[in-house]
Amino acid sequence: EKIHNEIFLNSADASKLVAKEIAELIISKRQQGENCVLGLATGSSPINVYAELVRLHKEEGLDFDNVITFNLDEYWPMDRNNVHSYHYFMHEHLFKHINIRPENIHIPDGSIPQDKLMNYCLDYEENIKNAGGIDFQLLGIGRTGHIGFNEPGSHYNSGTRIITLDYLTRSDAASSFHGISNVPRKAITMGINTLKRAHRIVLLAWGQNKADIIKKSIEGEISSAIPATYLQNHQNTTFVLDKGAASEL
Ligand code: GLP
Repeated sequence: EKIHNEIFLNSADASKLVAKEIAELIISKRQQGENCVLGLATGSSPINVYAELVRLHKEEGLDFDNVITFNLDEYWPMDRNNVHSYHYFMHEHLFKHINIRPENIHIPDGSIPQDKLMNYCLDYEENIKNAGGIDFQLLGIGRTGHIGFNEPGSHYNSGTRIITLDYLTRSDAASSFHGISNVPRKAITMGINTLKRAHRIVLLAWGQNKADIIKKSIEGEISSAIPATYLQNHQNTTFVLDKGAASEL
């Protein structure tokens, strides 16, 4: 299997095209009287996609009334009102600017107590199924090769669960947390199996510092050592890259 790649000069143009694909899916689903289920990611990579979706809503009337979202992951423990939470990120960059119904927004809750986590994760998985499965999944990639927070060692058949973050992942997050000691050690994440059931996957990566992990993910042997290589087995995945991220392919 070969992953399909699209390489752009810059991330701004690439992000507009990805937002356009999402908008067209939302519209075509509505025309069929159906909901559109989006799997959403955080991090710096998708910010311009969300900005473009907000623009399409405000300037072109893109309607999010039939949209249901499931976010990939959240730090644990993490209060939803904390500025470092993915909950906060999603509201700031997308949800508070569009007309999505609050009950259609799903983000793993980082404040779930430890003894309730297992059932909470099973329910999250169940909610995705009940919504009809993910139509379109947006992904970033961490420098360990993680997708969502599926760190190296993640099983091919893993579902939503609590995981321990790699040191490299925590050190990449350290600057925004003002020091690695403030970065949570764990996170709730959708699993590899959750992701591979999505009908369509678009992975975004920008900049030279992603070039090495992009090469390994696309050209390397499929292995739990680099979870993004599992995407090579998915029928409808596109890696959307800028010049820098594609520079070692
Ligand atoms: C975090 C997120 C991932 C994201 C990654 C890369 O680890 N949990 O979903 O893909 O960061 O972040 P960035 O897009 O800022 O490079």
